[in-house]
Amino acid sequence: MNILLTGGTGYIGSHTAITLHQNNHNVILYDNLTNSREETLFKIKTSLGLNLKLVIGDVLDTKTLEDTLNKYKINAVIHFAGLKSVDESITQPKKYFENNVNGTHSLIKAMKAVKVKTLIFSSSATVYGEPKYLPIDENHPKNPENPYGASKLKVENILKSLSMSDPSWKIVCLRYFNPIGSHEDVNIGDNPVGTANNLFPIILKVLKKKIKILEIFGKDYDTNDGTGIRDYIYIMDLVEGHLAALNYLKLNSGWHDVNLGTGKGYSVLEIIEKFQSVNNVIIPFKYSPRRKGDVSESYADVRKAKELLGWEARNSLDVMCKSVLKYFVLEQTSKKNVF
Ligand code: NAD
Ligand code: UFG
Repeated sequence: MNILLTGGTGYIGSHTAITLHQNNHNVILYDNLTNSREETLFKIKTSLGLNLKLVIGDVLDTKTLEDTLNKYKINAVIHFAGLKSVDESITQPKKYFENNVNGTHSLIKAMKAVKVKTLIFSSSATVYGEPKYLPIDENHPKNPENPYGASKLKVENILKSLSMSDPSWKIVCLRYFNPIGSHEDVNIGDNPVGTANNLFPIILKVLKKKIKILEIFGKDYDTNDGTGIRDYIYIMDLVEGHLAALNYLKLNSGWHDVNLGTGKGYSVLEIIEKFQSVNNVIIPFKYSPRRKGDVSESYADVRKAKELLGWEARNSLDVMCKSVLKYFVLEQTSKKNVF
């Protein structure tokens, strides 16, 4: 299949590109590089010999999207492109709606124009908001606590309506929980261009001594140790979920929402302890007030992913924590080699 990955040079897009390519798909990346680097392609080429095609473009630019869909005879799109910082979305909500919602409108317009109707959308567990029950299944009420989540929910509703108005659309909406780690053989990882907000990129900043101490946001949540609980999933497991979704869409149309998580939650303190013990490093930390827009606890009910897509996460938290450190070491080594 010829597959277009919007946001393809980003963290999840670049990892997905490798697996799709290795599964004999023809992959075209489409990215405006606001939160990623062209260098990622170079790293993939050097490590794996894969020559991935990149179109530098904005999803808001419908004409360039349409031309790209035509030129590469695209059969399916995975729509990763989006802004994802919860913090930034609180201070600049308009930017998030403009980019994430209007960007999707533009993509739909381009896809309609060339009659491509197979789409996988990167949504987020953030759409559920504070859990009413756990684990969170796909029918859980959607009450996002922040504008980023609200923008994702709006896109979901647009796509759902689209598939209701035209049942020939084939759409899987994947709600990611917390992807972490990186590819075994390439030094690409979660390395945002802007400020890092997520736990693991911040842990790496502490290791690099760019940040003195990790702040744990909140020690008064109603959880086992008072810190926030999340469902961390290994990036390559998450990627496999996309392959499974593509396979599913070969035979099925309509709208399908699916959680991608492990089904198990870990607190921030448990993560720090695990990261320290499996990697034999020390992460200094202190407690700070809760972060705006955060929920206390979030982990997935993963039954639908297994039943519908035949997919489940396989890797343990040990593997994920080791993978994060391996990326750090590879980065440090490659920098030493350059200078
Ligand atoms: P990322 O920032 O690394 O990748 C997103 C990519 O989209 C970046 O390369 C960025 O340059 C590009 N992009 C943004 N706006 C664009 C636009 N208007 N036109 C073209 N390209 C644009 O983020 P990621 O972690 O790879 O996330 C991918 C998707 O998954 C996002 O939509 C994100 O909201 C969603 N998601 C991520 C997580 C997570 O924890 N990483 C969790 C849930 C959902
Ligand atoms: N945390 C800290 N200190 C930090 C960073 C994070 O204590 O410096 C805590 C948070 O409070 C939270 C946990 O670590 O309890 C995980 O936080 P992340 O920022 O890594 O992840 P979030 O769950 O807040 O959000 C992430 C992505 C969203 C995505 C969501 C899906 O940022 O894009 O997961 O669950 F939608």
